[in-house]
Amino acid sequence: MKRIILLGMPGAGKGTQAQYLTEKYQIPQISTGAMLRAEIDAGNELGKEAQKYMNAGNLVPDQLVIEMVKKRVALPDCASGFIVDGFPRTIAQADALRNVGIDIDFVIDLEVDDAEILRRMSGRRVHPASGRTYHIDFNPPKVPGKDDVTGEALVQRPDDSEETVRKRIVTYHAQTKPLVEYYLKWTAGDDPRAPRYINIHGGNTIEQVRDQVLAALEKQH
Ligand code: AP5
Repeated sequence: MKRIILLGMPGAGKGTQAQYLTEKYQIPQISTGAMLRAEIDAGNELGKEAQKYMNAGNLVPDQLVIEMVKKRVALPDCASGFIVDGFPRTIAQADALRNVGIDIDFVIDLEVDDAEILRRMSGRRVHPASGRTYHIDFNPPKVPGKDDVTGEALVQRPDDSEETVRKRIVTYHAQTKPLVEYYLKWTAGDDPRAPRYINIHGGNTIEQVRDQVLAALEKQH
């Protein structure tokens, strides 16, 4: 069973690596950021509420995302595994997963330094409908500005401005980074429900990171 959490700063490569893992293991990618952006696009109340936090580089309230994830992992396509990208992001979210009995097999922590993150975010382009992610230099689409699969236009995310990215990095250090300690502590004990924690240097090329992640998962099978 592959129930995987991808941890890491904004721009660490969680979405990029999740795309490889869904292909390899044929399990769904659950991105809380993408789910929230879908709510914003739908123009409903939840989306309007979330947008205020996201555009300011803050986290949306725990309860809102916890409910979303609980419902999503209960769907039949998650029966043989899933990749959660962008959740948990606070200790309260990690506790919620644990307390409702959603077991996780692997926590993969993609570690990248702040300067590299800023370089990556300025060049990121996304295909809004599918969530496919590109970078103008490091992972360019075949035709500039167009999605490889549909040919539709790529866009820059509104929260990828340098100012908002800097705020997101601060938010990460304050609220999400403590999860590394949280999982290290849990995995060091003798709880059979504890996931395995895998630390990967996310500053290498996309392909190097992909190979390291896959090798680590296969080794710990
Ligand atoms: P979310 O959408 O989850 O954003 P994020 O965590 O900030 O992560 P990103 O999607 O920005 O980055 P990524 O790690 O997926 O990197 P990517 O692969 O795209 O969340 C957005 C907002 O929603 C949050 O700020 C918050 O407000 C809210 N939210 C979401 N979940 C929440 C939760 N659980 N609780 C509360 N609030 C929540 O890569 C980035 C770029 O770099 C791309 O261009 C890519 O091509 C390139 N790249 C990737 N890997 C490499 C590499 N190895 N070398 C060179 N370039 C690379």
